Amino acid sequence: MKKRILIIGACGQIGTELTLYLREKFGKHKVIASDIREGDKPLMKSGPFEILDATNYDEVEEVVIRHEITDVYLMAAMLSATAEKFPMKGWNLNMDSLFNVLKLAKEKKIEKLFWPSSIAVFGPTTPKNDTPQRTVMEPSTVYGISKQTGERWCEYYFNRYGVDVRSIRYPGLISYKTLPGGGTTDYAVDIYHKALKHKKYICFLNSETTLPMMFMDDAIRATVSIMEADREDIKVRSSYNLSGMSFDPEEITASIKKHIPKFEISYEPDFRQPIADSWPQSIDDSEARKDWGWESKISLDEMTEIMLTNLKDKYQ
Ligand code: SER
Repeated sequence: MKKRILIIGACGQIGTELTLYLREKFGKHKVIASDIREGDKPLMKSGPFEILDATNYDEVEEVVIRHEITDVYLMAAMLSATAEKFPMKGWNLNMDSLFNVLKLAKEKKIEKLFWPSSIAVFGPTTPKNDTPQRTVMEPSTVYGISKQTGERWCEYYFNRYGVDVRSIRYPGLISYKTLPGGGTTDYAVDIYHKALKHKKYICFLNSETTLPMMFMDDAIRATVSIMEADREDIKVRSSYNLSGMSFDPEEITASIKKHIPKFEISYEPDFRQPIADSWPQSIDDSEARKDWGWESKISLDEMTEIMLTNLKDKYQ
């Protein structure tokens, strides 16, 4: 098989697990990890790695040619909360990196591209429950604007140049291998660490903030399965809605209390509250189910068990 994969942003929350998963599936020398800096030991030891600035076209092209890359996963991005602090930096990183890989695909230097979108493409005027694939989209964050714009460009490159780009609107992602950075949904990871460490957590969102979320294993499975699907089955070339579970801070607390009865949560909402309030509470992902057979597997209680079991050693 001549498939050779490049992951850009391999040291981040999704990139780390995606790299390990793809190396297991396709063989470690077929999967080149890259990032602007080196990552955790398990990732660095698992196969080839390149230092790469996703916004520098020449650097990305050089690595793609040298390693004879066929498939690129672009996972480098600035997330919602950080991008509100550095709007132009967020915009430039999120857009320049996308244009670089779209250009490589247009010039047939790669065959296939995965680019992540997000529930942040939706805004305060979007229907909040069972948000459909096609609906009002008026994002109110820099991150959301960059993702919505990116979706339009992906579809454009597919229609105009036949670029095989595939995308998912990720909900908040929860994992234990690598910490997330700069997102509004990050509380749902931090809460497990603090529950084990202090039996207490101060949440930056209020108790009723219901958001769409997903355990990382499901997200990785979705990512690889959309990339491995037959080209004709991918009907949506902007980005697919994807749904795992929905909960608010009170519900995740109740789930943790089943294992740590003394655990307590308190609330100090900050600038991230209005970001969360502008996003949907639940997502209709029927098109992903229909087109490429998507099905989520892991529930809130199952996720809690996996998170606490795997993080326990760290805090003992
Ligand atoms: N998890 C992301 C964030 O909170 C949303 O895509 O920014």
